[in-house]
Amino acid sequence: MSVNNYIQTHKDRFLNELLDLLRIPSVSADPKFKEEVFKAADFVKDSLLKAGADVAEICQTAGYPIVYGEKIVDPNLPTVLVYGHYDVQPADPYELWDSPPFEPVIKKTENHPEGAIFARGSADDKGQFYMHVKAFEAMIAADDLPCNVKFMIEGEEEVGSDNLEAFVLENKEKLKSDVILISDTHMISMQDPSITVGLRGLTYMEVEVTGPNRDLHSGTYGGAVANPINVLCKMIASLKDENEHITIPGFYDKVQELTAEQRERLNEAPFDLADYKSKLDVATVHGEKGYTTIERVGIRPTLDVNGIWGGYTGEGAKTVLPSKAYAKISMRLVPDQDWKEIARLFEDYFKSLAPSSVKVKVKSHHGGSPAVVSDTSIGYRAAEAAMEETFGKRPIPTREGGSIPIVALFQKELGSDPILFGFGLDTDALHSPNEHYGVQNYFIGIETIAAFFRHFRKLNEA
Ligand code: BES
Ligand code: MN
Ligand code: MN
Repeated sequence: MSVNNYIQTHKDRFLNELLDLLRIPSVSADPKFKEEVFKAADFVKDSLLKAGADVAEICQTAGYPIVYGEKIVDPNLPTVLVYGHYDVQPADPYELWDSPPFEPVIKKTENHPEGAIFARGSADDKGQFYMHVKAFEAMIAADDLPCNVKFMIEGEEEVGSDNLEAFVLENKEKLKSDVILISDTHMISMQDPSITVGLRGLTYMEVEVTGPNRDLHSGTYGGAVANPINVLCKMIASLKDENEHITIPGFYDKVQELTAEQRERLNEAPFDLADYKSKLDVATVHGEKGYTTIERVGIRPTLDVNGIWGGYTGEGAKTVLPSKAYAKISMRLVPDQDWKEIARLFEDYFKSLAPSSVKVKVKSHHGGSPAVVSDTSIGYRAAEAAMEETFGKRPIPTREGGSIPIVALFQKELGSDPILFGFGLDTDALHSPNEHYGVQNYFIGIETIAAFFRHFRKLNEA
């Protein structure tokens, strides 16, 4: 039986297995789900063994384990390393889900007329890395596995991959490969396949502003003592100017400017602004002056408040002048910004903005480097040929705004080209309520991955 016949014949089981994996609430950010995260790791290990891996093991780390698996057909053949993550974002707020986040259901949507799987992790990243496990199974079953395969599926991507770096550094030989396949990004649409060649980096900060030493009656003291929430808002507002340019001194120093020609190519990607606005229900888009929406999310850095709190937020009204105010602020970075340096620049500048009426603490959370990958490597060309075969259209290279911090480390330490071979859509509601992944995306992904292996082998022999 051919690989594609095998996939066609086993579709129901391939789908049901993914639904089983989605039933495990492997939320890495919340210790309440600790056992479930370990359970998901076991599930991945078992699925690799059942698919036909020679080796599949749970590699313990200081945090959640990394699942490693491999099948070496012939040491002289090229080796593909697959990376993905079995952890998921928290599902909160639960009340905004139309169906429970860990009880997957299949429903039709405008973008997925054939049905989409609704569950936390369906697109990010369980549905996407599991395509590789199923493509692997199909190639083995059809006795047509053209390359060696290694899997490295981690459980801490959504919390910054803290323990992956050490694992990679300690296991360079074991992870040796000719290409690294990662399905954890988007394509433009089912009609416009694309391959991601750029990801942004990230610096994530938390700030605390303290005014008086206790909450005060806002009548007795209001107007005479600085309100830390008011102060914080003013400080945040001055982090960008009227052109949405970030005001932190030195922030743009290392930003790579693209040539006019590169920008033109980037903007050739299909993009419908009216549709973009209507899907988000916003009247206008907003961002750095002088750049298009594609550029604002692809090649420009930015700064956003992720959360802000303090004072009274309960039912009804309470008159209070709070003692403290907090905010979580993140910056998306582009080459060649260094996330640790940006964290320092932010801290210095933010503190300098504080009036003497408050005290300010700044803390740095996780971060990660931006990455740009080649669109001429053998791996890229194999991915291009594979997509052309299954989608009937040549994919275009795109740059995305999200971050997979470990990609830059792979480039530096493992020296093989990462291919960002994602099959999701940007409307799949990653990290949001009602996350979903198209059933068709899942199956076309499995077929395209198998096609990649064939093309990668062929191009390596050419
Ligand atoms: N899969 C995403 C990254 C992504 C999403 C890239 C969409 C391109 C398009 C990944 O799981 C993720 O959420 N990354 C985090 C960073 C991480 C350090 C928490 C992000 O981008 O916020
Ligand atoms: Mn992901
Ligand atoms: Mn994610």
